[in-house]
Amino acid sequence: SEIRIYTKEDLVPMRNACKLAKAVLDYVESFVKEGITTNELNILCHDFIISNNAVPAPLNYNGFPKSICTSVNNVICHGIPGEYKLKSGDIINIDITVDLDGWFGDTSKTFLVGKCTKLAERLVDIAEKALYVGINAVKPYGYFGDIGKAIQSFVDQYNFSIVRDYCGHGIGRVFHDNPLVVHYYSQEVGQQILPGQFFTIEPMINVGSYKSKVLKDGWTAITADKSLSAQFEHTIAVTEEGVEILTA
Ligand code: MF3
Ligand code: CO
Ligand code: CO
Repeated sequence: SEIRIYTKEDLVPMRNACKLAKAVLDYVESFVKEGITTNELNILCHDFIISNNAVPAPLNYNGFPKSICTSVNNVICHGIPGEYKLKSGDIINIDITVDLDGWFGDTSKTFLVGKCTKLAERLVDIAEKALYVGINAVKPYGYFGDIGKAIQSFVDQYNFSIVRDYCGHGIGRVFHDNPLVVHYYSQEVGQQILPGQFFTIEPMINVGSYKSKVLKDGWTAITADKSLSAQFEHTIAVTEEGVEILTA
């Protein structure tokens, strides 16, 4: 269905929201160490966001109980911060969405904790590169299907898989809007990419199968085969000139 088109003026508050989301990730990075709990990371981010006159968008979103998502090891996304203490060898995705004056900025990054396996290092590296391959496939007047096609042909070189149950999304004055941004190859070319669109690209890459399942808490998405999963996310704007990475 309809993809919202924003004006050049809308870019100003959208840039501010996205800049703040990126600043939260930068702020929390120095605290991501062995021994810290995911709930302590949640509190640090929550307080930083509030003190910047913004609202952590996940808090109470469809009943989500915390202000950020913390997804460790085999957790694909939507991990709920809690009493789990990070240990050397873990990988953790921290996903930040802020609502600043009614504009949403959404970004995430996977961090390596202490000494990780070569496999974990490789997965995280490929997940980050997959995000940029997706962004580079975005052209004004191109198609959303170009994104998944490019990411799939990149990731297939490494015997990793791309999660299919979760997608990127339109964003702006709403957190999750049309379209669904598919990260894997699909026959469907999808809708046209046009100047004035704001959306996220956020590929989740698994060591094993792409299949996911949700834990009984109703949120935590894990790999069905318990293999490692990594993710990176940016919010981008399409202009006549090309693409602006708003959370860079
Ligand atoms: N930030 C996530 C995304 O990239 C969504 C989190 S929704 C929550 O779209 F409720 F789980 F927080
Ligand atoms: Co998102
Ligand atoms: Co996000």
